[in-house]
Amino acid sequence: MTNRSGVEVIFDADTISRRVGELATEISGRLPEDVLIVVVLKGSFVFAADLLRALDRSGMQPRVDFISLSSYGTGTESSREVQLTRDLSEEVRGQTVLIVDDILDTGRTLAFAVDLIVARGASAVHSCVLLDKRERREVRVDADFVGFDVGNVFVVGYGIDLAHRYRSLPYIGAVRSV
Ligand code: PRP
Repeated sequence: MTNRSGVEVIFDADTISRRVGELATEISGRLPEDVLIVVVLKGSFVFAADLLRALDRSGMQPRVDFISLSSYGTGTESSREVQLTRDLSEEVRGQTVLIVDDILDTGRTLAFAVDLIVARGASAVHSCVLLDKRERREVRVDADFVGFDVGNVFVVGYGIDLAHRYRSLPYIGAVRSV
């Protein structure tokens, strides 16, 4: 179905909600209840907000911090370099950390985040992504928890943008031609 924004719906709001609940159950079965969640901005802010509340319902009491990493600018092609544009405010040394991101694409962003947090002395670093574009991987990295696998389409909505548009859509959709 193509909606009024010209975006083809891939995962509707109910489907996302159900999957986020399942992810929270998986995470609560494997990680300590006071895990430090590191949200990679901007794209994952909607996913992270829903995941945090689902984790609470699963009996966890996670702590939260934010980091801003950017590699796309305003286009759809990944550039080669990940930039740290806003650093964490919490100390990660000795902590069990769960990195939360919206998309795992080439892998550069997640690899950068994992390396940074390991280098700062976290005792364990796990990762959770809502969407995994496995066929696009350029760096050897996988997430421990994955919401959905997606093919090589440019996705928007549920926090994910295209040139600063579409973040507010309550579902995830595909933009076929940009
Ligand atoms: C997107 C997305 C991931 C990253 C994944 O962020 O939110 O963080 O790209 O791509 P990669 O696996 O190829 O590194 P983006 O740089 O678009 O920034 P934004 O989240 O602020 O929109």
